[in-house]
Amino acid sequence: MKKELKFKVNGQPYDIFVEPKKLLVEVLRDLVGLTGTKRGCNSSSCGACTVMLNGMAVKSCSVLALQANGAEVVTVEGLATGNKLSPLQKAFLDHGAYQCGFCTPGMLMSSTALLAENPKPTKQQMKEGIDGNICRCTGYNSIIRAVTAVVKGEYKEAK
Ligand code: FES
Ligand code: FES
Repeated sequence: MKKELKFKVNGQPYDIFVEPKKLLVEVLRDLVGLTGTKRGCNSSSCGACTVMLNGMAVKSCSVLALQANGAEVVTVEGLATGNKLSPLQKAFLDHGAYQCGFCTPGMLMSSTALLAENPKPTKQQMKEGIDGNICRCTGYNSIIRAVTAVVKGEYKEAK
């Protein structure tokens, strides 16, 4: 039997009914309609499904949707303000920190959560911040360069 799920996604309130077995990633993509969050391994390994749940980066394939009841969720769609990209999004673009782009939403969410918690991470801490996210294309260096540019203050304002 479906149960009520009340939560906010990117600041917007939702009041929907979901099956208890539904994962957060499924509800975000299929019911809320935000397909920026990717579903890769579905087993908590690749990080493509990473979103922020009450400010913490979580793999939304490992969270039941009903666990988000009353919570604030931020997805990659919530990073930009209108058509202004977040500093990290802009830095990812400028530094070519993506190729196929499948990992990019998860990389952005993990990096955003890292910088919210620690605005001046060391390179090692940056690597640890995305160590739950797999990228098959970039070799990670361009991603670290993008995060470094934000940490250095090169992207203070969304552009
Ligand atoms: S789809 Fe969630 S970690 Fe891979
Ligand atoms: S850009 Fe293709 S998996 Fe990361």
